Amino acid sequence: MLKLENVSAAYGQSQVLWDVNLEIKDAEAVTLIGRNGVGKTTLLRTITGLHPVSGGGVRLDGEQVEHDPAFTRARAGLAYVPQGRGLFSHLTVHENLLMGLPALGGRETAKREIPALIYDLFPILHDMAGRKAGNLSGGQQQQVAIGRALVTQPRYLLLDEPTEGIQPSIVQDIERALLRVRWELRVAVLLVEQYLDFAWAFADRYYVMQKGRVVETGLTADTATQAVQRYLGV
Ligand SMILES: Nc1ncnc2c1ncn2[C@@H]1O[C@H](COP(=O)(O)OP(=O)(O)OP(=O)(O)O)[C@@H](O)[C@H]1O
Ligand SMILES: [Mg+2]
Repeated sequence: MLKLENVSAAYGQSQVLWDVNLEIKDAEAVTLIGRNGVGKTTLLRTITGLHPVSGGGVRLDGEQVEHDPAFTRARAGLAYVPQGRGLFSHLTVHENLLMGLPALGGRETAKREIPALIYDLFPILHDMAGRKAGNLSGGQQQQVAIGRALVTQPRYLLLDEPTEGIQPSIVQDIERALLRVRWELRVAVLLVEQYLDFAWAFADRYYVMQKGRVVETGLTADTATQAVQRYLGV
């Protein structure tokens, strides 16, 4: 289980997260929604260790990890697909995928190869292995970014708006792949998303953030998307 206990975070003097409590059980899928600027990305960065907590704790299978560096948390099973994908655009698809391998740490395989499963999930990565990531479409780049995260063999996958700016047909490919990640690999997923139909199709539970606080949580099956749409409304 991944558990946040009263997590706070700030940029300098400006506090952006207040006492966030959130948990993801093993192999569970949870979505975090909220308007632009409420702190969703900051929360994911705080979980992964890319941004410091200013209060509260992050527990990974009972261990306090909130002061551990990001690579330690990656080796412990946390993987992160950043908003905007964060690929090395001048490197090839294959080289980008290889970037995931160091996070395996002690779990490393001798061969240092990309597991066949990654290409099975996203066949396009095989076809495009030698292409520069920067020349791919947004949807293809998102698949590379998710593939790179899966190379680390995570137990928890954190995704920051994976459908942002991506054409619907590729959103479907990504949804199908994520469902397999969840049910075949038993990876737990925290999905930050503004596209509610996708979030609701995928996640068991949801959390809503407003101005850096969790203001509502529940089961997606019990709640219509219209009921939470007001939190995202323009
Ligand atoms: N590097 C930074 N320095 C200072 N303030 C920042 C920084 N990054 C984000 N913020 C501020 O922190 C708040 C939360 O930002 P964050 O990016 O976490 O929101 P978000 O919910 O992910 O937004 P979006 O939906 O647009 O991705 C915002 O007010 C933002 O302006
Ligand atoms: Mg964001």
